[in-house]
Amino acid sequence: MLRPDNQRGSTPYRAADAAVPVSPVITLDGVAKRFQSTAALSNISVTIPPGQFVAIIGRSGAGKTTLLHCLSHTTAVTEGSVRFGACDLVALQGESLRQHRARVGMIYQQFNLVKRLRVLDNVLGGRLPHLGGAAWWLALGRYFPAYDRDIALRCLDHVGLLSRAWQRTDTLSGGEQQRVAIAKVLAQEPQVILADEPVASLDLMNGALVMDTLRRIASETGLTVIATLHHVEYARRYADRVLARLS
Ligand SMILES: Nc1ncnc2c1ncn2[C@@H]1O[C@H](COP(=O)(O)OP(=O)(O)O)[C@@H](O)[C@H]1O
Ligand SMILES: [Mg+2]
Repeated sequence: MLRPDNQRGSTPYRAADAAVPVSPVITLDGVAKRFQSTAALSNISVTIPPGQFVAIIGRSGAGKTTLLHCLSHTTAVTEGSVRFGACDLVALQGESLRQHRARVGMIYQQFNLVKRLRVLDNVLGGRLPHLGGAAWWLALGRYFPAYDRDIALRCLDHVGLLSRAWQRTDTLSGGEQQRVAIAKVLAQEPQVILADEPVASLDLMNGALVMDTLRRIASETGLTVIATLHHVEYARRYADRVLARLS
């Protein structure tokens, strides 16, 4: 997990943290998902250990996004079970569902950043699930405690964009914006990172930089990263494991 440590300077992840996997074992057991007559997923069984970088590849409509939604529990499976550690997602509701969503960091093809905000303010948005009471209300006015700003700056440093913290987000290139989105997800201190086509809008060079960043996060922090990808080449080059047949 990320922890601010003013004495230690700018390393966002301490070596001791990096040795401790923070992700749960993820288990899908006989998962199927149907939308009316469409079978988006059928009979998926897989176990993903902590810290693994998993690529999901498949044609358009193969069910890649649906699988990520089943993991974030924004959609419920029709059959089978999804477990994070001992926790069966089907049982989640109310506060436990909110907590589950806070521990899953999502990265999207279109970055999902507020373009007119400064880069740092976007990253600080990742801290919102950790704030309560007055701090949460103050954060809506973009006032964040020093503790949270410190974490956000470390996350930006981790993706190589600390020097851009005060710039408007829309002045950055697409690849840089995607790395800001990754910093925002890191600031959320998730247990698992799900990335839906994270490089589909980027040219080859920027795509490779984003993939390098995701790869490094999985290797250095023990966080599980599950990414849907269009390019089989990226999957082969970066992932520990490739899931290809979803339905
Ligand atoms: N909310 C939905 N309602 C109805 N059908 C859906 C919905 N979401 C996805 N589908 C269908 O499920 C299948 C898998 O979709 P999706 O997971 O988006 O595929 P992929 O991400 O691999 O392109 C497609 O046939 C799609 O039309
Ligand atoms: Mg998709």
